[in-house]
Amino acid sequence: MARRPVVAANWKMHKTHLEAIQTVQKLSYLLSKEDTDRIEVVVCPPFTALRAVQTIIEADRLPFALGAQDVHWEDRGAFTGEVSPPMLAALRVTHVIVGHSERRQHFGETDATVARKLRAVFGHDMTPILCVGETDDEREAGRATDVVTSQVREDASKVGPDQAARLVIAYEPVWAIGTGKACSPEDAGEAVRAIRDVLESMYSTDVAESVRVQYGGSVTAGNIREFMAVPEIDGALVGGASLDPEEFALIVKH
Ligand code: 13P
Repeated sequence: MARRPVVAANWKMHKTHLEAIQTVQKLSYLLSKEDTDRIEVVVCPPFTALRAVQTIIEADRLPFALGAQDVHWEDRGAFTGEVSPPMLAALRVTHVIVGHSERRQHFGETDATVARKLRAVFGHDMTPILCVGETDDEREAGRATDVVTSQVREDASKVGPDQAARLVIAYEPVWAIGTGKACSPEDAGEAVRAIRDVLESMYSTDVAESVRVQYGGSVTAGNIREFMAVPEIDGALVGGASLDPEEFALIVKH
């Protein structure tokens, strides 16, 4: 089954809403319809820029999907500073990054909270981009595959088979994020195969073959081709190199 690759820009805590508008506009001049027919392009600005980017995508009919970088699992409540799934859905956000390693590392996110978020995102008909990946120490100890497969098992534990097939997973080794030291395509391919194996054991071969799995971690216009050449890898989740529309467009075009 042919999976449509998905390339997502995770801007993290960068760009005001004004800078976000400029970046998306520039990106739209740099990408052709052919590019965005072939590759699903998702832009994930910070919360404060979602409304501005939504407006420009809709007004100019830009072929980009709108993504958020995180979400709370409850629909509403006394959770100061949090943003709920219906708030995102009302902005026609279609994708939500869940369980990014920076949230796990700096904000105490656990597999249990990630599991609740995944269910909440599906509950509002959005697509989660579930991030998994091992640390340097875990890889050195030969535990990379174990860590990644147990994250998938626990994080997707509340997700049924129909929804699971729509999941996007980003394999992002923590040591490769923002370091300029990307994973080798061979190691990334091995991790992605392990992710599909665990999906097959949890759900079915069909689900394992339908889920799109991205690679993330120091992806640039210079190395994207090596990753896209690995048949198991269906796109990329791009941090630093997505801030510059010219470089991000080259990544999409690879
Ligand atoms: P970099 O591309 O900056 O390494 O970040 C990867 C990432 O964390 C995307 O979510």
